Amino acid sequence: MNHSSEKEGLCAVPAIEYRNVYKRFDRTDGKSLRVRPCRKGGDKRKKQGEESCPDAEASAGASSAGALKEESGFYAVNNLSAEIRDGELITILGSSGCGKTTLLKMTNRLYEPDGGSILLFGEDIQKQDPVQLRRKMGYVIQQAGLFPHMTVEDNVSVIPRLLKWEPARCRDRVTELLELVGLEPDQYRSRYPSQLSGGQQQRVGLARALATKPGVMLLDEPFGAVDAITRLNLQNELLRIHRETGGTFLFVTHDIHEAFRLGNRVMIMNGGRLLQMDTPETIVRKPADPFVETLIRSAMEQEHFWNSSIAFDRGADK
Ligand SMILES: Nc1ncnc2c1ncn2[C@@H]1O[C@H](COP(=O)(O)OP(=O)(O)O)[C@@H](O)[C@H]1O
Ligand SMILES: [Mg+2]
Repeated sequence: MNHSSEKEGLCAVPAIEYRNVYKRFDRTDGKSLRVRPCRKGGDKRKKQGEESCPDAEASAGASSAGALKEESGFYAVNNLSAEIRDGELITILGSSGCGKTTLLKMTNRLYEPDGGSILLFGEDIQKQDPVQLRRKMGYVIQQAGLFPHMTVEDNVSVIPRLLKWEPARCRDRVTELLELVGLEPDQYRSRYPSQLSGGQQQRVGLARALATKPGVMLLDEPFGAVDAITRLNLQNELLRIHRETGGTFLFVTHDIHEAFRLGNRVMIMNGGRLLQMDTPETIVRKPADPFVETLIRSAMEQEHFWNSSIAFDRGADK
């Protein structure tokens, strides 16, 4: 909301397009498979993400009233369609277990969808070699995922070295990247991950993901494990890096403040479904769904708490 990367019209082909994407997992509670009649219009008693009549089967004509369907699994991502334009910073917001990580993992083919398709700049990722595909995408996860036995320099240059870049080129790129993520190169390049704070590790993780200038960055709750002040700093750095690199960023978070602060558009998910995808302003003005409305209201109530009661108490103490 506070930065503009709208490039409508500049690039007609979306950077990423999800077309009716599904991902199903079997339950892991050890229960044997059961079958039962599928209710027309879906089962109102279903748990979040669990589907007795998923749209895929309905459209395939398999779920008319009375059809049998095994009840062993659920849809972690359920009929999700979205278009992400080149250069956008999209935040994906939803509570734990709603399918955010699954969606990211399908985007770089760590998971394969069970239905639908995903296009990267107009090309179906199913037709691309997964290793080549992942090289076009940076991937940052919550615990940074650094190799503990490697120095910062070696961690950051993992992919360039795999691609057999010359040592001098690797070294220059590491210098550039450490500067980009706000770490003094000479001070940090020879350190091991255990010699860094959580926030510094996340910076190194970010640098590593940016090493080969990927067009798309997938960030899965990258700041989830750092303290509030470090988090705010990292958010500011991320906005700057996004502006400087001009890439397409997909940033997963369960924190509404983070999602609305960073995203030029926000995707709100619940139970595997995409409920709304729009600018923060529009979502606040016109929530498309009761769940979204509740989410906004609870965030506003928290805001109200900080704005009024704490300020009032402090004033009263004087
Ligand atoms: N590999 C897997 N096998 C079985 N179930 C999975 C697997 N990965 C995720 N799930 C389930 O899918 C749902 C969505 O998970 P996930 O995408 O990790 O959620 P989020 O990232 O939003 O917290 C959860 O119920 C989770 O337990
Ligand atoms: Mg997750």
